[in-house]
Amino acid sequence: MQYKSVCDVELSGKRVLLRVDYNVPINSLGEVVDDTRILASIPTIDYLIKKSAIVILCSHLGRPNGMRVESLSLEKILPVLMGCLNNRNIMFTQYCYGDKVMNYIDGMKPKQLLMLENTRFWSEETDNGPSMSQGLADLADIFVNDAFGVAHRAHSSTVGVARLLPSVAGLLLRKELVYLERVMTNPERPFVVILGGAKISDKIGVVERLIDQADCVLVGGAMANTFMKAAGIEVAESLVEEGAIDTASQLLIRAGDKLILPMDVIVADAMEVGAKKSCIKVDQGVGIGYRIVDIGPETTKLFGEHIARSKMILWNGPMGAFEIPDFACGTNNLARHVAYSEAVSIVGGGDSASAVRKSGYDNHISHVSTGGGAALEMLSGNMLPAVEALDLI
Ligand code: 3PG
Repeated sequence: MQYKSVCDVELSGKRVLLRVDYNVPINSLGEVVDDTRILASIPTIDYLIKKSAIVILCSHLGRPNGMRVESLSLEKILPVLMGCLNNRNIMFTQYCYGDKVMNYIDGMKPKQLLMLENTRFWSEETDNGPSMSQGLADLADIFVNDAFGVAHRAHSSTVGVARLLPSVAGLLLRKELVYLERVMTNPERPFVVILGGAKISDKIGVVERLIDQADCVLVGGAMANTFMKAAGIEVAESLVEEGAIDTASQLLIRAGDKLILPMDVIVADAMEVGAKKSCIKVDQGVGIGYRIVDIGPETTKLFGEHIARSKMILWNGPMGAFEIPDFACGTNNLARHVAYSEAVSIVGGGDSASAVRKSGYDNHISHVSTGGGAALEMLSGNMLPAVEALDLI
C-alpha cells in the first residue's frame, strides 16, 4: 500500500498538525534521559520549516489517564527539542485544542512552531473521542503523522484527526514503513532473525511469522531459556516463562534446523553487578543456585558467522541482562557483528533499540526502529490503524 508522505503535498503557508512520539524517558529531575525519539523527528520538522509551513506539534507522554500530571507535561521536552533545532524558539500552550490554541495559531507566521500539551491529559484522546478529533482537526489544514511508536493505537491524535484532514506520513514514519515492510514482504536472503528478550508469549505472533520467513533464527536472552527448558536442558534459577514451554516445544518442531539456541552461556549466582559468574556449555546444564544471564563467547562467534553470511538482519530483543554491565558482553558483541556486517540491518524498537544504543554501534545499523509495540504489531503482520488512516497516493 502506498501512502502519501509530506513530500506529496503543498505545505507553504499551511497550518500543519504534526503528530510526533515524544514518549521519552524522563528522570526525577524532569530531564529527558534518552532523546532518540526527539532526534528522529527532526528531519520532518526541518522539512516543514524549509517548506514554510506553520508547525503545530502534538504528542503524548506517559499514561496520565486523562488527567493533568505536571511531571508529564510536554513543556519538559522543549529545551531538548529547541537544542536539536539550533535553539529555534518554540511556543508552548498548556492546552491541546479549543479557542485558546486557535488564538495562538492565528498569530503564527510560516516557519514558526507551537507545541501543544500532552494529548493524554484529555481522556478523549485514548477513546478516540470525536470532539477531540474535531478540535485537533480545526487547528490545521494538513495532518502529518510521524509518530511510528504509537501507530498501533487508534487515538484521537493518531486516527480520529487523520480521518478529518488531508493526512500524510512524515519522513520518519515513511522510513519505518519502508524498512519493516521490506523485512516482511521481500527480505534479501540469507535473511537472519535474531530474537531475544524475556518473553515468548508477548511476541508469539512475531516469532511464528519470522520463523516461517527467515532462513535462520538465532535465539538468545531469557527467551532462549524457555526454549532450552522445552528441549530438556536444566536451566536451574534462570528466568523461564513456564506458561510458554508447550508453545516453545511446538516452535522448535516448526523451525527445525533453522532455530539456533546458545551452545554456551554465562551463568551468575545473582542478578547484580559483582555476582559470581562463569561460562558453561549448555549441555552441561546450569548448576543449582545459578541463572543464565548472557550468551557465551562460542555462541557469539557462531551467531557472528551466521550474521556475516547474511544479506538482511532483523534483531529484536537483547541477548542477556544487558542493563547490568557485567552481563552485557554478548549483546554488545552481537551488536558489533551486526554493525560490521554488509547486510541491511534493522533493529526492532524497545529494549533492543536501547541495547544497541548502549553498545555504541547504533550508527552502523541501517535502521533502528523508534517503535516497540508498533514494530512488533507490524512484524506480526497486523496493520497499524494510524497508518491505515493516512491518504493513499
Ligand atoms: C511507546 O512508547 O511504545 C509508544 O509511545 C506508545 O505508548 P503507549 O504504550 O503508552 O501507548
